[in-house]
Amino acid sequence: MLTIGVDIGGTKVAAGVVDEDGEIVEHALRPTPADQPDLVAETVADVVGELAGGREIEAVGVGAAGFVDETRSIVRFAPNLAWREEPLQKKITGLIGLPVVVENDANAMAWGETRFGAGRGQTHVVCITVGTGIGGGLVFDGKLYRGRWGMGAELGHIQVVPEGRLCGCGNLGCWEQYASGNALVADAREIARQQPERARILAELAGDKIEGEEITEAARKGDDASLAAFASLADWLGQGMADLAAILDPSCFIIGGGVSRAADLFFDRAKETFARQLTGRGHRPLADIRLAELGASAGVVGAADLARQR
Ligand code: BGC
Ligand code: NA
Ligand code: ZN
Repeated sequence: MLTIGVDIGGTKVAAGVVDEDGEIVEHALRPTPADQPDLVAETVADVVGELAGGREIEAVGVGAAGFVDETRSIVRFAPNLAWREEPLQKKITGLIGLPVVVENDANAMAWGETRFGAGRGQTHVVCITVGTGIGGGLVFDGKLYRGRWGMGAELGHIQVVPEGRLCGCGNLGCWEQYASGNALVADAREIARQQPERARILAELAGDKIEGEEITEAARKGDDASLAAFASLADWLGQGMADLAAILDPSCFIIGGGVSRAADLFFDRAKETFARQLTGRGHRPLADIRLAELGASAGVVGAADLARQR
């Protein structure tokens, strides 16, 4: 039986028809109506309609970047999007007439990676998505851990710097302000402003429009400011994993999200920082730290599989 998985990102809505083996049979994309949250349900219905045509679809799983309630239907809060108490499940079901399960985007990705990707065979998986923000997903003994109210594994919102940078969630100093794609951009821009001589290559590439792509390209060309921004991200990521290991003692970490496409610029250093900062190091096994295998489709595959298992 086929299900459809949908991953609602900040810029695009990705969807796919997925079979029992986690293979995407067909996929489709739409731009996210980012400033009109009420139109997201319509966009999802539209893309599902296109994919479902002529097929028997059992259910639809939707990954959304926010705090999803324990009934898996309402996006109660989204730090980086305009959703507040958004009854996404009801709206989408109303439009398409199929069973719909809404899941946190990082949970969906963690599920996809554990079932079909880098986490296969692992018993204690901590998945970290490094993108605009930081998402988290925990899969223990083959079960997704959601917490009491569905809002567990919001790893991006652990405070790492008292009185630190303002986060989209309203708090100060959250981890996602130091180890995400947004953090990378903030760091590089700050160095470029304060010490322009370190950011010559970046300035040449980006002018005053410094974004992640330019920082990545500049870092690969040896730009000092861009390399420093990646080093900072790596250290915050490694320290964060060490802290998470102190709580959760996972067998493996999986690093995904858009920024992981630039893994060559931070992954080794993050692993080193993790090993250096881990409490009890030398007297315990080191968790494996892996890159996500399913890339951009992990969320689609995971959401579709969660819908199958609803
Ligand atoms: C949100 C999470 C989401 C993550 C990645 C965070 O800011 O709080 O719900 O999973 O970003 O999109
Ligand atoms: Na999560
Ligand atoms: Zn926060």
